Amino acid sequence: MRIKSGIEGFDALIQGGLLQGRQYLLSGSPGSGKTTFGVQFLAAGSQEGEIGAYIALSEMIGIVVDDMSGYNPKINDLIKSKKLLFIDLGPSIHYGEYDEMANLITPDYNQQSNENPANQAPTPFSVFKEVEKQVKQFGIKRLVIDSLSSIRFISSDPASEERSIGRFIRNLKSLGCTTILLSELTKPDAYTIEQFASHGVIFLHNFMNKHGKMIRALQVIKMRGTKHDCELRSLEFSDKGLKVGTLINN
Ligand SMILES: Nc1ncnc2c1ncn2[C@@H]1O[C@H](COP(=O)(O)OP(=O)(O)OP(=O)(O)O)[C@@H](O)[C@H]1O
Ligand SMILES: [Mg+2]
Repeated sequence: MRIKSGIEGFDALIQGGLLQGRQYLLSGSPGSGKTTFGVQFLAAGSQEGEIGAYIALSEMIGIVVDDMSGYNPKINDLIKSKKLLFIDLGPSIHYGEYDEMANLITPDYNQQSNENPANQAPTPFSVFKEVEKQVKQFGIKRLVIDSLSSIRFISSDPASEERSIGRFIRNLKSLGCTTILLSELTKPDAYTIEQFASHGVIFLHNFMNKHGKMIRALQVIKMRGTKHDCELRSLEFSDKGLKVGTLINN
């Protein structure tokens, strides 16, 4: 079954919508619209009765909610009625008294951050376990993880990290949610395990054209089981959020 993404102009590129229960990767450069796309997708679902959850691994939830309410004033009501959940699974500790104390005892920052469990970064395993619990508890049907990059690059062993990310994605698929994993797009031609493992891959770009104008664009790279558009399409931030438009000619 195909479900509406909530992004104007996007579903027409992918035969009418995302396949329910599948897992997608949305990769883009800084400020390209990843978080906006993700929250818009969740809000659209929750307005249709599909409970959505935004999993924050690096963003401050209050700021995301504030920014996104500008596009959709219903977001606060959806949160209050538990149709839309914002769950913070980022490192919990804030700079404060603890750090001042710890600095007196362990002045070496690396030593300090390794030794204090509250200071440790979330791992694919810890995030999965918590997400699994929340999905079962709240009946979540749409999931956004912001971002995969936050649980990557934490291991000094790249091969074991690839395995760990691959396992994370496979386990997420077993939850049955329609999931969008957000990730930073550093090198578009550097293929990663998350691109192979996901059912679909979408890139968001922002770049300067030859006239020095910033162009925002969306491109569907892969969409299993779907005859999809492959072109660079314009992407616009409207009053209601992201909107996909026409073909881009540089
Ligand atoms: N009201 C607005 N009108 C037009 N554009 C806006 C508006 N609000 C934000 N933007 C644009 O949205 C961008 C941020 O979008 P978003 O947070 O979704 O991007 P992102 O890809 O998640 O960024 P990051 O890489 O920092 O996580 C801003 O940099 C700005 O260009
Ligand atoms: Mg973001």
